[in-house]
Amino acid sequence: MDKVAEIKRRRTFGIVSHPDAGKTTLTEKLLLFGGAIQIAGAVKSNKIKKHATSDFMEIEKQRGISVATSVMAFEYRDCQVNILDTPGHKDFAEDTYRTLTAVDSVIVVIDVAKGVEEQTEKLVSVCRMRNTPIIVFINKLDREGKDAFELLDEVEEKLKLKVLPLSWPVGMGSMFQGVYNLYENKLFLFSPHGKQLEEDTLEINDLNDGALDKKVGKRAADTLREEIEVIKGVYPDFDREKYLNGEESPVFFGSAVNNFGVKELLDCFIEIAPSPRPRETEDRVIDPFEEKFSGFIFKIHANMDPKHRDRIAFLRICSGEFKRNTNYYHVRQDRNMKFSNPTAFMAAKKEVIDEAYPGDIIGLYDSGNFKIGDTLTEGEKVQFKGIPSFSPEQFRYVVNTDPLKTKQLNKGLDQLMDEGVAQLFTKIDSARKIVGTVGALQFDVIQYRLKGEYGASCDYEPVNLHKACWVSCDDPKELALFKSRRSKDLATDKDGNLVYLAESSWGLKTVQENHPKIEFHFTSDF
Ligand code: G4P
Repeated sequence: MDKVAEIKRRRTFGIVSHPDAGKTTLTEKLLLFGGAIQIAGAVKSNKIKKHATSDFMEIEKQRGISVATSVMAFEYRDCQVNILDTPGHKDFAEDTYRTLTAVDSVIVVIDVAKGVEEQTEKLVSVCRMRNTPIIVFINKLDREGKDAFELLDEVEEKLKLKVLPLSWPVGMGSMFQGVYNLYENKLFLFSPHGKQLEEDTLEINDLNDGALDKKVGKRAADTLREEIEVIKGVYPDFDREKYLNGEESPVFFGSAVNNFGVKELLDCFIEIAPSPRPRETEDRVIDPFEEKFSGFIFKIHANMDPKHRDRIAFLRICSGEFKRNTNYYHVRQDRNMKFSNPTAFMAAKKEVIDEAYPGDIIGLYDSGNFKIGDTLTEGEKVQFKGIPSFSPEQFRYVVNTDPLKTKQLNKGLDQLMDEGVAQLFTKIDSARKIVGTVGALQFDVIQYRLKGEYGASCDYEPVNLHKACWVSCDDPKELALFKSRRSKDLATDKDGNLVYLAESSWGLKTVQENHPKIEFHFTSDF
């Protein structure tokens, strides 16, 4: 197959949801369709149970599972589907944000009873920042839930997505009979045994066809007719261009655990979801069909065996063709590197590959050369955009409890920050180090890993902070004034960028008002 065809047949996407909406179950069913696994239950849930917030073994187990299931590739029809897994636990939200930089589209899973939940709102807002095309899957229709129209309104309002139903439920909970697919004009009847049989599918070109009444009963058939009429009146026809621009999101209904509605979702996904898209760098847009290879690191995973300190860096290929044992240019380090054992992730197993194409994710063994956001090319000095750090929400001072191991502590902290476990800020006035994280769990992870992998010990002291935001200003005089006035609230991040540490939202607002020329940014990518 030629390179162009290889690129066009790739679909690289992520599934996001609030924990428990059914992401793991849906992933598993998709893998079953792709033949990547044979039995249900083969994909382990990678979520940390809520009660285990400080159980280190549980953290380690979670990390072990998540490397195996970080990327799951399978063939379906003529496509290569790459699913990028995202951690469900909210304390690992930043991992998820970063993974979303490596996908071309997203499927959002929503629980029909719970509707739009907090975590989904956050993740979708990250997708919206990049206009990532989104498909919505409303799950658990076998349970009583919210009215479908109400849910669509809620999705529009809370996720700020323009939605467009491509399938529609017939009943719900104990009265759930199936879904009508508006895309193909077919009715799929629900059977809870996890298999969709031929005789459960009814092609309906005219909704007034009496066959519909026979299958679902007159009352349900009439309701469906009315609702479809409303849908046709309210929602426009599906426009793929709009979906690809992130302006319109098709919605499907189903029940992942019953394997219902999943095949339709996958079939439609293959048709409409984008193949690898062009990517912005700081200087120019790189097209996937360009001759020369380029890619970026979006995730780094440490080896759990302390005897082997190597890590796996996850590279998203953006253009050209990646080949094993070939020299590539590491832009930040300004040197060439080659990789003898690049791995691809086929479902839950890894295998060494000889070549890979745009859209693919490969694992590179790394002994500390990579940071998140690093670029590899065939010589061009480019930097991909949009791999930001997000303003952390929890902060603590780091205290070195074993001064003889200061070097190890600094090295460990440095490497953990490169992996993106947390962010480190150094206060300008006192040189004290502050760790900032999205969730509390990372503090335990850092302590545990510093001890286990670097032999260093640290403790934390509370610090009263509300937010860290990156600051910039076009006017050097204003910036100098700001720096001298607010010196006790300033720090630098690990790359030396200036960061303002706000003690309260009120304090931040006042400072913003007092320094109107200073820009405050809540992600590092500005
Ligand atoms: P997550 O990855 O988004 O966190 O969710 P996960 O797939 O683990 O699903 C959360 C729970 O919801 C699981 O039940 C799962 O079986 C259930 N579930 C998923 N899809 C459906 C559906 O279509 N209908 C119904 N009724 N339930 C669904 P659990 O009890 O937490 O785990 P398990 O013991 O069943 O594995």
